[in-house]
Amino acid sequence: MKTFYIETFGCQMNAHDSEKVVGTLVHEGYTQVVDEAEAGLILYNTCSIRDKAEQKVFHRLNEYKRMQGEGKKFAVIGCVAQQEGQKIFERAPYVSLVAGSASYRNLPDMLARLEAGETRITGLDDRETEETFDTDFTSRSNPHRGYITIIEGCDKFCAYCVVPYTRGKERSRTSASVLAEAQRIAGLGYTEIQLLGQNVNSYRDPSGKRSFAELMVAVGEINGIERVRFTTSHPRDFTKDIVDAIDATPTLCNHVHLPVQSGSTNVLRAMQREYTREWYLERIAWTHAAKRDISLTSDIIVGFPGETDQDFEDTITLLEAVKYDSIFGFKYSPRPNTPAIHMHDSISEEVKAERLAILNTRQREIQREHYARHLNQVDRVMVEGGRNSRGQVLGRSMQNKTVNFTCETTPTVGSYVDVKITQVFPSSLVGEAVSEAIAPSAALLAQQALNARVVVLS
Ligand code: 5AD
Ligand code: SF4
Repeated sequence: MKTFYIETFGCQMNAHDSEKVVGTLVHEGYTQVVDEAEAGLILYNTCSIRDKAEQKVFHRLNEYKRMQGEGKKFAVIGCVAQQEGQKIFERAPYVSLVAGSASYRNLPDMLARLEAGETRITGLDDRETEETFDTDFTSRSNPHRGYITIIEGCDKFCAYCVVPYTRGKERSRTSASVLAEAQRIAGLGYTEIQLLGQNVNSYRDPSGKRSFAELMVAVGEINGIERVRFTTSHPRDFTKDIVDAIDATPTLCNHVHLPVQSGSTNVLRAMQREYTREWYLERIAWTHAAKRDISLTSDIIVGFPGETDQDFEDTITLLEAVKYDSIFGFKYSPRPNTPAIHMHDSISEEVKAERLAILNTRQREIQREHYARHLNQVDRVMVEGGRNSRGQVLGRSMQNKTVNFTCETTPTVGSYVDVKITQVFPSSLVGEAVSEAIAPSAALLAQQALNARVVVLS
């Protein structure tokens, strides 16, 4: 029997890539195991976004070394594979396959060569491709959310970011192919779909039929679909019709993740983000003026080369102007191949840490105030987990907020329940069920049972 074990790090795109890789392997006759000791093939899907990620990968590969005598084969895939390429074979000679995400559509061929005994197989030369990794064999491991990649790669080349080098050129799928996959997911019983892309709203339909906003609406109109999410949006391509579509289509989630990175126009220029603070705030004004309460979240980097105290202060005042519902804050970390690696990393680790702490503290205060708007609201929640130690069930609101709620009987994962919010915390809501649970379809329960063994995220 051909068996494999997969470990995955990184963003949602990587997690979903692994769902497709698992599906491809299963289609090629492999069985997934959850214990690496039982696996004939070990795959490691890597991320290189920050913090010397490649060192961590080599460290992990060193741990694999002790298993090499057991006849196992090793594959390193994803962003560190693309970034380090042949160097992986030099440092870890027991690895037989190294492939970046732009080459995954060639996996069946690479697997055949692996099985034939080849030991230096690479998929590293496809970053200029126009093709996307479309497959009918995705193993969906999420029990309540179906992911669809609509655009791969990135052409933005922000000064700090590895993604254009690791994931290659921007390329969109046709809207017909996206809609066919969305229909298939709805047929499996999923009621929630998340559209994915490094810059999801840079989507350009190669067939010219639909804009990004029109595609979202078309997905939201599919029979059985209750929620459409999309991530990550880039401010450059954030157009007013996206806000109008959210306002007009109740199935589109009223949440936009719109990373600003910095509140200072000077730093934004150095980062090559190609927008100013004012330009960004104009887009935010559209969402603030919307009929629905659109929740905003962001990513922020502190300590980019040359960031002054005043620049950092501009980021803090931007937080206050926008009122995000959550942010991911990062200390700038120099990455190989990026233009910023040639800039002097001028901010000390100590100052970076200090700025990050100030950022997070201020943001927490903002959330503490801003979450109060939910008190006494009734929110529809999708159940995502069982009861916690307080006996509360875990669910998520349309805006992607965590809601812990009490109810008499425990609803199944994938059910919907109306919950009255009785308490607010800075990053979660607490409430009580005020409706019966709407249970997931038999199709979704069958799908959950089928994929219970599929483990994607480590
Ligand atoms: N240093 C710190 N943060 C980074 N990000 C991307 N590259 C870097 C880097 N070199 C952050 C950005 C991006 C998020 C996914 O990771 O904020 O939006
Ligand atoms: Fe990490 Fe970026 Fe690659 Fe995602 S695309 S896995 S965040 S390096």
